[in-house]
Amino acid sequence: MVKPLLAGNWKMHGKANSATELVEQLAAHEDTFSGVDMIVFPPAVHLSAVVDALASSVIDVGGQNMSQHDDGALTGEISGAMLKDIGCDYVLVGHSERRTVFAESNNEIAEKFNTAQAQGLTPVLCVGESLQQRQQGQTVKVVTEQIAAVINQVGIENLCKGVIAYEPVWAIGTGEVATPEQAQSVHAEIRSQLGLQGADTRLLYGGSVNASNAAELFAQPDINGGLVGGASLKAQEFLNIAQLMA
Ligand code: 13P
Repeated sequence: MVKPLLAGNWKMHGKANSATELVEQLAAHEDTFSGVDMIVFPPAVHLSAVVDALASSVIDVGGQNMSQHDDGALTGEISGAMLKDIGCDYVLVGHSERRTVFAESNNEIAEKFNTAQAQGLTPVLCVGESLQQRQQGQTVKVVTEQIAAVINQVGIENLCKGVIAYEPVWAIGTGEVATPEQAQSVHAEIRSQLGLQGADTRLLYGGSVNASNAAELFAQPDINGGLVGGASLKAQEFLNIAQLMA
């Protein structure tokens, strides 16, 4: 059985004080979710402080984004090596906000995935369809293309060493969560396409997860955890989610 994973994507929220307070509250209760792995993804400016605050905790830390390049004249960018150097073990790649707001392409995201692994980070590849794509029956096609771009670049074996998060765009920050059946069916499709039966690659669901809907979602056989936005900013709610997965 794959160990469940709960990840909190803070997006562009929080100040220095609130960032460290939040993780201190999570760490203070980590014995209540020992059956679950937890990662937090704070904004880049808070990463060092959060890593320090979690120095004696089992909670891992990751970046929300990174450059596909190793280094160079790229003002405003952060490399995977920099994330690793300050104590991150994970990085999100291809979040739908990066794809839509910042126009990141499947190829660029695949390059980021590749560079992340080369620099010793575990990438969490985010995939998911828009509402229009779902309504047009293109969910599986879109998700398959997003994953195939990464396979073309790194091979299936390396893809499976990462984490995949299925986040339907229409469910992100909208309060409209996918039904457990909708999420399970996409997860099962991904798992079967990758030949993941019995493998320990973790497939997360993300999109309006909270303490009220998490139990049903995480009871699905092919959902190994969650990537949580809004609800990960409230320590008690995030702890509640972790505890009901444990
Ligand atoms: P919400 O949980 O706020 O819908 O955000 C999901 C998400 O985008 C996590 O990466």
